[in-house]
Amino acid sequence: MNVTLSVIKADVGSIGGHIRPSDKLKETVRNFVRDNGNGLLLDSYLSSTGDDIAILMSHNRGVDDPKIHELAWKAFMAGTQVAKEQGLYGAGQDLLKDAFAGNVRGMGPASCEMEFEERPNEPFLFFAADKTDPGAYNLPMYLAFADPMHCPGLLLSTKIAKGFTFTIMDVSYTEGDRVIELHAPEHLYDIACLLRDNERFVVESVRSRATGDIAAVVSTSRLHNIAGKYTGKDDPVALVRSQSNFPATGEILSPYRLGHYVAGTMRGSHNGPLMPVRLNSSVSFFDGPPVVSCAAFCVHNGKFTEPVDAFDHPFWDWVRNRTAEKAAEIRQQGFSGPAMLPYSELEYGGVVEKLGELDKNFVVRGAKGGKPPKKEAA
Ligand code: 13P
Ligand code: 13P
Ligand code: MG
Ligand code: MG
Repeated sequence: MNVTLSVIKADVGSIGGHIRPSDKLKETVRNFVRDNGNGLLLDSYLSSTGDDIAILMSHNRGVDDPKIHELAWKAFMAGTQVAKEQGLYGAGQDLLKDAFAGNVRGMGPASCEMEFEERPNEPFLFFAADKTDPGAYNLPMYLAFADPMHCPGLLLSTKIAKGFTFTIMDVSYTEGDRVIELHAPEHLYDIACLLRDNERFVVESVRSRATGDIAAVVSTSRLHNIAGKYTGKDDPVALVRSQSNFPATGEILSPYRLGHYVAGTMRGSHNGPLMPVRLNSSVSFFDGPPVVSCAAFCVHNGKFTEPVDAFDHPFWDWVRNRTAEKAAEIRQQGFSGPAMLPYSELEYGGVVEKLGELDKNFVVRGAKGGKPPKKEAA
């Protein structure tokens, strides 16, 4: 049978700053989906990562279904009401439009969806990240689907040895979806060339070259492209199918041991290491570090098993400790150089406005027709 998995996530309010949604807010969103999903959904699962709430849904209505998107939008509206009643910080933060217009894309929430023919056994992973942006998944997707250092299945399994096709989106382009398809392994250097720029080029999906089956999807929305100003980071979600014609679950998780530096953390304006955390974790140090959670499921006839918390294992405690050290290390240099994002990516207006002001007072020393250098007061 064909099943569609849809994840729609939003930050509609949190306790104590950008830390974690309240229990009541999560309960409200969960109940809304349950009470109004009858006849629409086969199953659903609700979780939070940092201050973001993600609704994972299974159904057979295909991707971009207006009814499914409307259900999630209305659930987040109901949640926003509770966030306001509780005085939560940033109530309704990610709901950027007043009226629902058929699809949450371009309206603030992040979403990713995939439709496929269910295998007799269908394991998949649901990732959610907070205090970062969609490019955070670039390196882990590249390493899991194209690098035998993390995915020995590329050598060991004839099923996946044909490689994978990456669809990569230019998220700086706002007139429409500007995408390119590249094939691993022969286009590896081209793929790397694009994926090195996490802020501009983002993995949108990955497909098996052997079967054409969808393997992975990532939310690609960029909030500041929608709102025209900073309204929060574009905290991304992803779905990845595993085993058989796809990398094994452990191969998909392997790159997360790196705790690689990504954009985000405090005020969405810094670089910090991506820390793999348990489901429903909060954020803390320096509004970060950027965190990623992973719920592993099997789905059968659209029904989910219970989730297994993929990063709840002693191995990941060691990774978390190392990642914490990396977070503290880059914070040593405060605003300097790579600790803070470049001008083009700065989410808050302050520095941008300040530079505009200062710009007027610059002089070009000795330039033809330029102002003469100012004399120091004696
Ligand atoms: P099992 O033998 O436990 O099924 O594991 C097979 C495998 O490929 C693990 O990556
Ligand atoms: P969120 O995007 O998770 O709401 O975080 C915003 C922020 O400014 C954190 O410092
Ligand atoms: Mg927030
Ligand atoms: Mg968030």
